[in-house]
Amino acid sequence: MKYITLNNGVKMPQLGLGVFQIEDFDTAKKTVLTGLKNGYRLIDTATAYKNESAVGEAIKESDIRREDIFVTSKLWVQDMTYDGAKRGFQSSLDKLGLDYIDLYLLHLPIGDIFGAWHALEELYETGKIRAIGVSNFEPSRLVDFIHFNKVIPAVNQIKLNIFNQQTEIREFMHDYDIKLEAWGPFDEGKHNIFKDLLLTKIGEKYQKSAAQVALRWIIEQNAIAIPKSTHEERLVQNMDIFDFSLTDEDLKEISTFNIDNSRLGYHDPEEVSRILDLEFH
Ligand SMILES: NC(=O)c1ccc[n+]([C@@H]2O[C@H](COP(=O)([O-])OP(=O)(O)OC[C@H]3O[C@@H](n4cnc5c(N)ncnc54)[C@H](OP(=O)(O)O)[C@@H]3O)[C@@H](O)[C@H]2O)c1
Repeated sequence: MKYITLNNGVKMPQLGLGVFQIEDFDTAKKTVLTGLKNGYRLIDTATAYKNESAVGEAIKESDIRREDIFVTSKLWVQDMTYDGAKRGFQSSLDKLGLDYIDLYLLHLPIGDIFGAWHALEELYETGKIRAIGVSNFEPSRLVDFIHFNKVIPAVNQIKLNIFNQQTEIREFMHDYDIKLEAWGPFDEGKHNIFKDLLLTKIGEKYQKSAAQVALRWIIEQNAIAIPKSTHEERLVQNMDIFDFSLTDEDLKEISTFNIDNSRLGYHDPEEVSRILDLEFH
């Protein structure tokens, strides 16, 4: 496993398991246990995924030391205030059954993100969170946020994949040493990614699948990838991407996938209203 060093010195595995859309307790627990058995050491959950308890149970049942597992969770918008963040974080901690969380993120730039961030800064100072970060923040939001806060986010988790290559924000985050964590590394299976002919052709040179080429591209952008799968053979396959490198020619071909429809942030009022109506606890 390769590790990325965050801007506060904490080391984070560069590849992890995302558990979005696995709400069934037994399936979530089994998936995390299978991931841990196959070498995953980073688990990405969230209040909104409704599976923090299952993730916690799996961690407890595994024979891996707590300090060897990197756990990420996220604060949902219903708790996006100073008091709400303290409450929401404690709820995540209790559900996970842990004493601390490795990385805690503001899930979306909606609500009182400054109040919530101050609460996270305090929790970070007490050691209950090892690193704090944000998710789905566009560059202008990040500049504003950095300007008015003491702690610079360690991570911004955004959609990054071969179809959404996010060139503008990547340069900006690099300047502030905010690490990019790629959600939707397969774009959730859209655009026929797993059977794509060009990716398959590139992969054949290294005896790798289209999925592995797509993940390898993320790793080579120095980003952290958190693919989701509930199937053991895919979990194994997705982890097996550290023994080959893409050539300049491969990278040039992959650059043609970028369809640049990846505007970050939430600009559609109907979408924001829909999000504000969602309650998770
Ligand atoms: N911060 C945010 O707002 C945000 C938003 C979305 C996601 N996320 C995080 O990012 C993680 C990953 O994103 P995602 O779950 O949306 O989508 P994704 O990882 O891009 O794609 C997951 C899909 O790909 C399939 N798959 C995985 N590996 C495969 C392989 N080797 N071959 C063929 N199919 C494969 C999975 O199917 P099976 O499960 O059936 O194998 C699933 O349908 C999430 O789980 C979550 O932790 C964060």
